[in-house]
Amino acid sequence: MAEKTWVRMVTAQTPTNIAVIKYWGKRDETLILPVNDSISVTLDPAHLCTTTTVAVSPSFDQDRMWLNGKEISLSGGRYQNCLREIRARACEVEDKEKGIKIAKKDWEKLHLHVASYNNFPTAAGLASSAAGFACLVFALAKLMNAKEDNSELSAIARQGSGSACRSLFGGFVKWIMGKAEDGSDSLAVQLVDEKHWDELVIIIAVVSSRQKETSSTTGMRDSVETSLLLQHRAKEVVPKRIKQMEEAIKNRDFGSFAQLSCADSNQFHAVCLDTCPTIFYMNDTSHRIISCVEKWNCSEGMPQVAYTFDAGPNAVLIAHDRNAATQLMQKLLFCFPPSSDADLNSYVIGDKSILKDAG
Ligand code: ADP
Ligand code: DP6
Ligand code: CO
Repeated sequence: MAEKTWVRMVTAQTPTNIAVIKYWGKRDETLILPVNDSISVTLDPAHLCTTTTVAVSPSFDQDRMWLNGKEISLSGGRYQNCLREIRARACEVEDKEKGIKIAKKDWEKLHLHVASYNNFPTAAGLASSAAGFACLVFALAKLMNAKEDNSELSAIARQGSGSACRSLFGGFVKWIMGKAEDGSDSLAVQLVDEKHWDELVIIIAVVSSRQKETSSTTGMRDSVETSLLLQHRAKEVVPKRIKQMEEAIKNRDFGSFAQLSCADSNQFHAVCLDTCPTIFYMNDTSHRIISCVEKWNCSEGMPQVAYTFDAGPNAVLIAHDRNAATQLMQKLLFCFPPSSDADLNSYVIGDKSILKDAG
């Protein structure tokens, strides 16, 4: 008979985040240090989130991970960096009920199993890498009883995927690019929590759930190497926009918020066009959504809805309030009737929310 053994498990759930001032370009590829600050809004975990279970047992003979039910390799540098950083911070764990005691030094030789699910399309430009790596780091920290706060954990999640550092907080979040060569000051801070501007309603229009052709990592590497617009954007444009965006969020100034979000999304996609080889993340349907929103905003005399597109064709639409969101849905359903046009396959509606610790 096999010797009686134990398994310790922790499950966490983490929402994705969508940038309103975009991160696009690294100054250090290994540590994942960006060329500019960025600001995002964290979405409601009821709609777009990752759920990750991490388990440790003396019966596991290697680290393994399953993503959406399929085994993936953990040999990549990003997974290895996150695992190494959390293991280095692991503390003693004692669970008297189950008779488990893990000493600090035991974590070096114990192996892990990880199972992660995204309840939304993976690698389709809805920031699966953000929710995925934030959730992985958060769950591992709980499992290993690491004492670091969410900002310190954000600097570890950053080494999995840059945008992941911002998913450790709810509300509006800023990723400070930092100056230190070792990346220790490149981390996320919460600007305001999810209650600060709670009348905003976020609608995600899923144009395509297919995996994108150019991953964010490859796309931004090519942009850094070839786009002059990226250099100008990082040095001259973003620093001013970050200040203006922080003010707009603090004052709940929707007009400025919408103008800055739309302009920044468009400039990010202009950088993609300015890249060699050219990257097209938006498609005709994305362009039609932009026209529909801009026409309506113009006719109202003041913005009702802000749009932003990450590295994919799917639209993230931020409405001023419930009334504007209802009108927006009517307009979208009119322009893209579900029965006759398969371009737009679903809408997800939610508001902002905060990291939920399911551990
Ligand atoms: P996205 O726009 O969805 O963030 P990216 O190209 O930035 O697309 O990243 C997609 C990659 O992120 C996936 O191929 C996978 O390596 C990683 N990823 C996605 N979801 C998870 C998850 N839940 N846990 C760990 N890694 C994930
Ligand atoms: C367009 O964080 O996915 O969504 O750091 O290489 O993993 P890596 O890239 P990733 O890039 C996100 C780019 C973006 C803008 C943003 O989220 O700020
Ligand atoms: Co990503």
